[in-house]
Amino acid sequence: MKVCVVGTGYVGLTTGVSLAFLGHEVTCVDLDQQKIDMLTGGSCPIYEPGMEDLLAEATANLTFTTSYAEAVPGADVVFVAVQTPSADDGSPDLRYLRSAAESVAQNLDHDFTVVVNKSTVPIGSGNWVDAILRESFAQRADRPAGCEFSVASNPEFLREGNAIHDTLFPDRIVIGSDNPRSLEVLNQLYRPIINQTFTAPSFSPRPDDIGAVPLVSTDLASAELIKYAANAFLALKISYANEIGQLAAKVGADISEVTRGMGLDQRIGSRFLQAGVGWGGSCFGKDTKALIATAAEYNYSMPIVQAAREVNERQRLIAVERLQDELRILKGRKIGLLGIAFKPNTDDLRDSPALDIANLLLARGARVRLHDPIAGERFRREQPSLAPYLSDSLDALFDDCDAVVLVTEWAQYLELDWGKFVGLMRTPILLDGRHVLDAERMARLGYKYLAIAG
Ligand code: UGA
Repeated sequence: MKVCVVGTGYVGLTTGVSLAFLGHEVTCVDLDQQKIDMLTGGSCPIYEPGMEDLLAEATANLTFTTSYAEAVPGADVVFVAVQTPSADDGSPDLRYLRSAAESVAQNLDHDFTVVVNKSTVPIGSGNWVDAILRESFAQRADRPAGCEFSVASNPEFLREGNAIHDTLFPDRIVIGSDNPRSLEVLNQLYRPIINQTFTAPSFSPRPDDIGAVPLVSTDLASAELIKYAANAFLALKISYANEIGQLAAKVGADISEVTRGMGLDQRIGSRFLQAGVGWGGSCFGKDTKALIATAAEYNYSMPIVQAAREVNERQRLIAVERLQDELRILKGRKIGLLGIAFKPNTDDLRDSPALDIANLLLARGARVRLHDPIAGERFRREQPSLAPYLSDSLDALFDDCDAVVLVTEWAQYLELDWGKFVGLMRTPILLDGRHVLDAERMARLGYKYLAIAG
């Protein structure tokens, strides 16, 4: 099928490259010339494992352009995957979505095109985009006769750092539309994934236990709500583990044992129960806020989602308080933070716990140093106020340090020669912000091992 993808961020790029890999003819459009030049040259503007390999494999079916006039005409499906940043009141800022929809409408020429909202958009956006498309299309002097289109929602469930795996081998595909023809077109588009008929790329093998991928074919509003409800549930699952974690510390229980015991109950499940400094990234914070903002439009409050946010904010503060309890005085102390990205295998810094923890420590007079195996350059560019505190080497970070905090559980840190670095520290305090290090081993190596919960 012929596909156009608007926006080459995480979601748009993964969608475009994956569909091209599956054999569809894909054109990705983005107004950022620099990004398009990079992609045309075969390099990837974001850090995502496997993406450059997939780009290389799919190159024959892929075109990158800044021109909607090149990308939209003839497309059976147009995915809109532009950014929807949070406005001040927590609701998503939809100006990029509006202008993308207008540009798409200016260039529609096919007998039937499905325009798909792929970005996480507020509930009701399907109708809103439909209205913009119709208005803009009606204003065209050159509008072709017999050109029909319809809006669908197809939320994305990929995790950064696992984007290709999550797209090719998803737990489910959700498509929502009030037009049966759109559902049929999208069903056809995704058939290779639904039936798992494609040859998996060597760098992202097919999981042994995957069968046919369930397709949830539903109405627009339900598809839109599924995305928010899923992300908010994952966020509150982690916050719940973190809330229990603090109680575990008080009563002398081990949170890792508690969550293991809980997670083995199949009704609960073990994933997203990892306690620590809490969640960050571009999705959970924004989506929980947006859900609350949508509910407020209906005069409805969501205390459970609100509580998940509050617990998450508190976790960052607890990290600082653990250090303060231990060191007594934070002023003048050198604290090293290992990991700046919001999670491993990405260079994304949005809402990363490391940034808040660094700022809280600086506000209390500590001397902060940060390190990250991949996100350092991006950090320097995007966080000018914290950039002077970046350490280029682990030696520089550990040297004369009063405490080190493992904030992001990069594999490199888990495999670190911890025994070598302990000797560089002034006081060997190690706060495991993700509960991933072996406490006994760290103690044997000479660290005073602390966890967020207990
Ligand atoms: C999340 C969802 O997992 C995806 O399904 C969704 O498509 C995506 O948002 C989105 O809406 O675009 P992502 O933000 O990339 O994906 O990352 P996650 O792997 O979900 O991690 C989010 C945060 O939770 C990270 O900071 C991670 O460190 C933290 N986390 C995760 C925990 O603290 N504990 C856990 O047990 C799991």
